[in-house]
Amino acid sequence: MQKTVGDITILAIESSCDETSASICKNGKILSNIIATQKVHEQYGGVIPELASRAHMQNIVPVVEAALQKAGCGKHDLSAIAFTQSPGLIGSLLVGSQFAKSLAMALHIPLIAVHHMQAHVLANLIDDPKPGFPYLCLTVSGGHTQIVVCESPLKMKVIGETIDDAAGEAFDKSAKLLGLPYPGGPLIDKFAKEGNPERFSFPEPKIPGLNFSFSGLKTSILYFLQNAGTSHIYKEAFIAPEDERKEFIRENLADICASIQFRIISILLNKLKKAVAQTNIKNICLAGGVSANSGLRAAFIETGKKEGWQTFIPAFEYCTDNAGMIAITAYYKYLDGQFAALDVTASAREEL
Ligand code: KG4
Ligand code: ZN
Repeated sequence: MQKTVGDITILAIESSCDETSASICKNGKILSNIIATQKVHEQYGGVIPELASRAHMQNIVPVVEAALQKAGCGKHDLSAIAFTQSPGLIGSLLVGSQFAKSLAMALHIPLIAVHHMQAHVLANLIDDPKPGFPYLCLTVSGGHTQIVVCESPLKMKVIGETIDDAAGEAFDKSAKLLGLPYPGGPLIDKFAKEGNPERFSFPEPKIPGLNFSFSGLKTSILYFLQNAGTSHIYKEAFIAPEDERKEFIRENLADICASIQFRIISILLNKLKKAVAQTNIKNICLAGGVSANSGLRAAFIETGKKEGWQTFIPAFEYCTDNAGMIAITAYYKYLDGQFAALDVTASAREEL
């Protein structure tokens, strides 16, 4: 790699959940973003923390080497090492943080600790066109659902969030009820493309303000499936025999998926419209794994056109967990001199 004095080249590592990822960012431009997805969890219907930590340990060296190689970068070109400090699975975070600390120490370069949710919001600053400040960001992932006002890269505030399940959990738990493997979000997306979103009606919760709730939706889907879509809908007392339920799901999978996805999207976008009305901000971004959902992307863009918003969605590879978003956040922290000491610790929970 051509190196000029003053270049800022950052290696970033993301290991908060079940993706091991490494990225190289040079002067604010992402040169590589390698992601190793752990397949081991599929058979269990969810992420098993201990298996995730072990897989990170196996993946981290090859993933970092691949990121350096793709960027045409050597270890001695690096200006700093960044890592996801919080939130996430503690064992998984520890693998990334210990690796980052060791490398920073060995190379005598600074360490930068990054908040995973801040990084999802800043994924919108990776590619052009970038949103102007302030912007609103709807961050929808497997662990979080938030509406954030982003005033500058390092200044943001949460103005709404879920009081129970995250949007990604709503997708994954619904998929599990349909007998689909983990993570079910992408599968619901796939089947929904062929289905009628108006065929089945699931209720929209009445939660005041800008907060979200998805647990009621999950319960209504559970009762709906228990009753195999009959008129006994939502009545706990009647439970259809299992083979009847399976048959009903098999015959109506596309319509059920489309109807579930339709409701999740309407919950998200109605709150987003409310946030825009309250803040009068018109630069609106999506972020997080669920922003990979094709129905949400299309509805978000269409709503933006109708409402006169400037809409932004990160490229697909920067929507789900990735180190590119950690790297861009670290770049802004580097410019601001926000470095971490070597005794910094990973933390499972931390407010944005
Ligand atoms: O941001 P992310 O990769 O990890 C967390 O920080 O949680 O988000 C993962 C979530 C999972 O719940 C997954 O099912 C969901 O994003 N997801 C999707 C799609 N792709 C990923 N949900 C719906 N449709 C998709 N296409
Ligand atoms: Zn995430």
